[in-house]
This record gives sequence, C-alpha cells and structure tokens, in this order.
Amino acid sequence: MDILVVGSGGREHAIVWKLSQSPEAGKIYCAPGNAGIAGIAECVNIGAMEFEKLADFAAEKGVGLTVVGMDDPLIGGITDVFQERGLRVFGPTGAAAAIEGSKAFAKDLMKKYAIPTAEYETFTDAESALSYLESARMPIVLKADGPALGKGVLIANDLGEAREAVKEIMQDKKFGDAGNTLVIEEFMTGREVSVLCFCDGTDIVPMTTAQDHKRALDGDKGLNTGGMGTFSPSPFYTDEIAEVCMETIYKPTMAAMAAEGRPFTGILFVGLMLTKNGPKVLEYNCRFGDPETQVVLPRMKSDLLTLFEACIDKRLSEVSLEFEDNAAVCVVLASEGYPVSYKKGFPIKGLENFEGSSDKFVFHAGTKLADGSIVTNGGRVLGVTALGKDLKEARANAYKASELIDFDNKYMRHDIGKAIDEA
Ligand code: AMP
Ligand code: GLY
Repeated sequence: MDILVVGSGGREHAIVWKLSQSPEAGKIYCAPGNAGIAGIAECVNIGAMEFEKLADFAAEKGVGLTVVGMDDPLIGGITDVFQERGLRVFGPTGAAAAIEGSKAFAKDLMKKYAIPTAEYETFTDAESALSYLESARMPIVLKADGPALGKGVLIANDLGEAREAVKEIMQDKKFGDAGNTLVIEEFMTGREVSVLCFCDGTDIVPMTTAQDHKRALDGDKGLNTGGMGTFSPSPFYTDEIAEVCMETIYKPTMAAMAAEGRPFTGILFVGLMLTKNGPKVLEYNCRFGDPETQVVLPRMKSDLLTLFEACIDKRLSEVSLEFEDNAAVCVVLASEGYPVSYKKGFPIKGLENFEGSSDKFVFHAGTKLADGSIVTNGGRVLGVTALGKDLKEARANAYKASELIDFDNKYMRHDIGKAIDEA
C-alpha cells in the first residue's frame, strides 16, 4: 500500500522511517518533507495546510493511507476533508483535535468528567483576569487558549509577572488570536512525563513513556522551545502509576470524547505531571510528540502500519503493541540563537556516519538540499537518537553520536536526561 505522510519535521522523519520497515508499505510520499526524509521517501511540494491539494494528490496517486503528523492541519480539519472525499486517513477529526486546539475546551472536558488536572479559571477579557489574579496564589500558570507552537504558556512567579503575562497574551496579542481566551491555572510540581497513545474512538493503548526538555538552555533555563531533547522510558512512571493513569485519565478521556460526540481516533499525547497527589494532566495533544517520537518509535517492536490500520478500523483491542526492553535518548542539534533568531544555510557534515546503523539515528527537522549538499534550514536542525541497554548507556551513546555531526552555529543542550541520575 502506498502511503502519504503530512509534515516536515523530525517527528515525520521518524514516522516515515518506521513505516518504511513495514512489510505492507509500498511507496511512501511525504508532503512537504525535508532533506532527510527525501532519502527514504518521495517528497512532494504541497504545504501541510493545503488540504484539497493533498487530497487531490492522494486520489491521483491511489494512496491507500494518509498519516497526518502535525497539529495545525489536524486542528484545521484535514481529516474531515479526506473523509468527505472517501480517502483513508489516520488522525482525529477537527472536532476531536479541539482537545489540543483549545485549552479551554480541554480543561472544561476534564472538569466535567472529573479527570485530574490543575485547578483553573477561563477569561475572555483582561480586566476580569487581572482582578482574579489579585487574590490568586503564586506561582501561577497563564495559557493562551489556542495553538501557539508550544510557546503559549507563561509561568509567573509573582503578581507583577502575572499581570505582565495577561498584558502580553490578551492585550499585546503576543500569540495572536490564540490569546483571545486565557486559561489561568494552578502551578503544579513533580516529574513531567509524555505518554503517546493509540486510540480507535473507543479503546486506548499507551505506548512507552518519554520525557521532553522544553527550555532552550541547560538546567531548564531560557525560553520554551519546541523541545531540545528527550529520553525514553521515564524511570518515574511505575507500573502502579501506569495503572492509575489508565483508570483515572486514559479511559475516562476516551469515554468523555465519545460522550461529547467527538470520538478520538489517532494519537492522543497526554502530558502528565506526577504530583504528590497523583498523576494529573498538564495538556493533551492530538498527535505524536516532537521530539518524543524520535525516542519512542526506535524502541517499538510492533509494526506501526498495522497499528494505524487497527485504529482506523476500530479493532485496536485485537492487535499487540510491544517495545524493546532498552532505552533511547535524543539530543536536538539546533542553530545557535533558537528560538529567537538564528542564521541558516550552513552545510552539515558527518551525516554519513549514521548510514546503515541500527543503534543510532539522525532524524532531520530543519534541513534542505542546496547545490547538492544538505544545509541547515531551521531552528531545530537534527535530532540525534541513540539506543542503549539502559538510560545511562543510551545517553552516553547519544552524546557520542552528536559529536559525529558538525555545522556552523551548532547548538545543543548538554544535560538531556540529567533526571535519570535522580531516579
Ligand atoms: P503545555 O503546553 O500546557 O504542556 O505547557 C508547557 C509547559 O509548561 C509544560 O510542559 C510544563 O513544563 C509547564 N506547565 C504547564 N502547565 C503547568 C502547570 N499547571 N504547572 C506547572 N507547570 C506547567
Ligand atoms: N514535545 C512536545 C510536543 O510535541 O508538543
């Protein structure tokens, strides 16, 4: 079966790479893709938001399955467009993707169905938000309602910072219309864990866990980014916690979405905080995580295409999902200055060191082909993933592998997986 993957980042590179190992996979296309994906799939020059063009392409080429990796097209309703045209597609409908598209919707859903999450209030005007803050406990978290590239969350340590955050989000519109509605919520402490789950509208099957590092600088300092590195599994997510999450979060979320007339089919990403009062939901996303996917898929033994098909056909309970008993660490190689401003267009050296390797991989995020060589073309350039028998070995391997690649203004964090030492 021929497959079309929609997206252009490291996550989509990992998805294409994993799908290419499936015995059922025929030709794989990726729109728009990147220079790394072009090595294993045919990149098609159609943007991820050009739904009709993508559907025309899938229909013309007789593509048997389209897999949508990115949040924006899912929130924008790409799945509905494909379904209306009778094209097979993996990903939630626009109505179900609201679980990521609107933080206010997600919070109200959790409140209505008693799913554990931080206490919160929602505001549509700055004055009421400011007066609420007068008597609120600090630190406090302020979130733009709509999608903002993972950057629409501000943590305020005192009233002054909180007032400033209301101004930035609601008045200065730092995140555009995403800030028309503001969610203000309780600050939680604990370990963060990302859990990606296969969903078929009724059943939900969690994959192994991962932990992301969202801040730009070592020691979790600096600005929020799309993610600077990940490790898998999380040593803090015990079997007991997994059981609690299944009963109090995963199953109730699936039931809640179905009850609301928005059954969720696709990948549900549950961002958890393991608090001293039990696991609570930080956020939901309606797709694979980036760069969580770059550590989760290399550890997956099962066939990804079989799982996608089972989700679409509502028979997830009939297939098995297995992971290797090992660990993986991904270090993101970024352009110095990311996420604010950075130069690009520098040739990348050392990619050949990863060819044919089965324990270290390089997933491209922001790269392109220019005059026959691969050059940097974004803030996050590459994700270097290495496997190991345990987390410490995987981390050592990932940092060793990161040294095999070089480009001008290469920047990376040096403490990805530091939490492993505290487990
Ligand atoms: P989100 O996009 O909602 O996951 O938020 C981005 C990051 O902000 C999370 O990964 C957390 O590190 C942090 N964060 C979000 N909500 C809270 C909260 N209620 N308490 C503490 N940290 C939070
Ligand atoms: N790594 C966080 C995300 O994909 O949203």
